[in-house]
Amino acid sequence: MPSPHQTLLAPSILAGDHANLRSSLKVIEEAGLQWVHLDIMDGHFVPNLSFGPQTVKALRPDSQLFFDVHLMLDNPHLYIDAFLDAGAQQITIHVEPDYPVADTLAYIKSKGCKCGVVLNPDTPAEDAKEFLPACDIVLLMTVQPGFGGQSFRHDVLPKIEQFDAWRSELGLNYRLEIDGGVDLQTAPLCTQRGADSLVAGTAFFKAADQSAFIQKVTC
Ligand code: DX5
Ligand code: ZN
Repeated sequence: MPSPHQTLLAPSILAGDHANLRSSLKVIEEAGLQWVHLDIMDGHFVPNLSFGPQTVKALRPDSQLFFDVHLMLDNPHLYIDAFLDAGAQQITIHVEPDYPVADTLAYIKSKGCKCGVVLNPDTPAEDAKEFLPACDIVLLMTVQPGFGGQSFRHDVLPKIEQFDAWRSELGLNYRLEIDGGVDLQTAPLCTQRGADSLVAGTAFFKAADQSAFIQKVTC
């Protein structure tokens, strides 16, 4: 089923220049894109650390990009205010840890920020179904989160179809975003199944011809 949304690319600055993340935002803006994906890791939920709200806040004044913040945290509910204050315009939270997911989604929404749930590759689609009416976006991981540059998990493809089917069956309008190993080969596998928002770190920042890459993955 075609998505009700136009396909967009959200580059992840996890693959950008960490000594100069502002320059990585400029690369995205100059490529004509609207979204940047910000990967936040706590070293507990995922075995890596990235950057925190202070960095996001420092990047905010200089950028017109839509800040799509992906929280890979054991206790995301404790950090929502910090990321709202930092200028997040969308916050996605994982369903795997034990915390009040529905209340956290409602809180994000009440502050005028878009919200959504994230599922790891092995998390069943059913685990997120109850939250869908509250979601502006559903983010499906196609790698085990924690690191950029991993291989796309083809076994997640049926889950994309499931969330696309639920979107029309339940009369919902969430975006369907894919994160991990998205490149010229794997992007069409996702968009053909109803995905409309593609995160790409390595493939975007390492592309020899970024505008050709954007053209091909969002067509
Ligand atoms: C993984 C992150 C991804 C990652 C994607 O934990 O959530 O956003 O940066 O990177 P690539 O595109 O390199 O797989
Ligand atoms: Zn991410």
